[in-house]
Amino acid sequence: MKIKNIGIIGAGTMGSGIAQVASTAGCTVKLFDLDQEALDKAKAGLEKIMSRLVEKGRIDSEEKNRIEGNISYVNSLKELANSDMTIEAIVENLEIKKKVFQELEGYVSDACIIASNTSSLSIASIASSLEKPERCVGIHFFNPAPLMKLVEVIPAIQTSAAVLKISEETIRSWKKVVAVAKDTPGFIVNRVARPFYGEALRIYEEGIADFATIDHAMKTVGGFRMGPFELMDFIGNDVNYTVTETVFEAFYYDPRYKPAFTQKRFAEAGYLGRKSGRGYYNYAEGAVKPEPLKDGNLLESIKDRIIIMLINEAADTLFLNIASAEDIDNAMTKGVNYPKGLLAWADEKGIDWCVTEMDNLYDLYHEDRYRCSPLLRSMKKEHKNFF
Ligand SMILES: NC(=O)c1ccc[n+]([C@@H]2O[C@H](COP(=O)([O-])OP(=O)(O)OC[C@H]3O[C@@H](n4cnc5c(N)ncnc54)[C@H](O)[C@@H]3O)[C@@H](O)[C@H]2O)c1
Repeated sequence: MKIKNIGIIGAGTMGSGIAQVASTAGCTVKLFDLDQEALDKAKAGLEKIMSRLVEKGRIDSEEKNRIEGNISYVNSLKELANSDMTIEAIVENLEIKKKVFQELEGYVSDACIIASNTSSLSIASIASSLEKPERCVGIHFFNPAPLMKLVEVIPAIQTSAAVLKISEETIRSWKKVVAVAKDTPGFIVNRVARPFYGEALRIYEEGIADFATIDHAMKTVGGFRMGPFELMDFIGNDVNYTVTETVFEAFYYDPRYKPAFTQKRFAEAGYLGRKSGRGYYNYAEGAVKPEPLKDGNLLESIKDRIIIMLINEAADTLFLNIASAEDIDNAMTKGVNYPKGLLAWADEKGIDWCVTEMDNLYDLYHEDRYRCSPLLRSMKKEHKNFF
C-alpha cells in the first residue's frame, strides 16, 4: 500500500513541522486546525522556512513551489476523508484526542491509518476510542520535526502487524530514522533521557557542584552539545518538569524517575529558562555567565555519574524489551543528539565498569534509584557486550 495522502490534525509546532516533512517527501498534505490563526501562522511559517532554504541554495524556487503546493490548509476535519494516513498533533489531552479520533473515523476509509504524535499518553488508550483500533499507531516526531532525524513508531497492543509495517516504511521513505518502541511511558527517548536531568539535579542538590560546573563537565569531558541545565533552560523548566512528573507517575512512582524539588521551585518561581529570561542562568542582556570550576577529577566524576545512570536506564530499556539495542542507541543519537549511543558507550567503558559504578552508588545511598540493571549484571557474568 502506497501512502500518498496525508491528513495532519493540529497545525501547531509539531503538526506544521510534520506537514513540511511529508510534503517535502512528495505527499499531498491536508493540514487541519480548528483555529484559523494557527493555520495562517503555519502557512506563513512554512513560506518563511522555504524562502530561507532557497536563499541558502538548499532548494530552488521550483522545489519551494512544489513543497508549498503539496499542502492545503483546512478548517474542517471532513476534508481529511481521502487520507491514507492521518497524524494527530493536537493538545496533549486524552479525552480531546479520543473525541477527535472518533469523529475522524466517521470520515476516513477503512484502510486509513490513524496515528498520534503524543509524547506521553498511551497509544492503547487512544486506540481504544476507535471502532478499528488495529489501525492506530504512535508516530512520535521530535522538535523541530524537519531537522530531527528520529521518529519513534509505537504499536499499541491493538495495532495490526500490517499497520506497523506500512507506518515504518512510510516514515523511512520520508528519510527519517525509525526506532520502534513498546507502548510504555516515555517510549525510548523521554524515558532513557531522564537521568541526564535528574542526576544532574541530584548532584547539584547534594552540593557537589554548581550548574555551570555540571554543564561544563557534560560538554567538555562528556561531549554533549549542551549541559543539562542549559538544556532544561532551553526546553523550559515547566515543560521539562511536567515530563519528569508524568513519567514518574506512569511508572507507579519508581524512585528512579523521581522529580527534583530544585526544578519544581524554579518552575514555580517562573524561572522557566530562556523563554522567561531567567532559569538556572540569567539571560538578561549583559548578564555574566558564571565560571565553572575546572577541576579535572571533579568534572570526570560528574560526567561518569550521569553517564552510568543513562547507561543503566538504556540497559533496562533493552532488558524489558522496550526496543532493540540498535534502536535505543539510534534514538539517543538521532532524537536528542547524544555524542554516542549509550549501549555502545557501555561497551567502550566495559560492562564490569558499569556494574561497579552502579554498585558503588547503591552502596553509598541504599536507594532503589541506584539499582543496577539485571541485564548489566548478567552480561558481566557472561562476559558479553551489547554490540
Ligand atoms: N512540542 C514538542 O516538542 C513535542 C514533541 C513531540 C511530540 N509532541 C506532541 O505533539 C502534540 C502537539 O504538540 P505541539 O507542541 O505541536 O502543540 P501546539 O500547542 O503547538 O499545537 C497544537 C495545535 O492543535 C490545535 N488543536 C487543539 N485542539 C484541537 C482540536 N480539537 N482539533 C483541531 N486542532 C486542535 C491547536 O489550535 C494548536 O494549533 C502533543 O500531543 C505533544 O505531546 C510535542
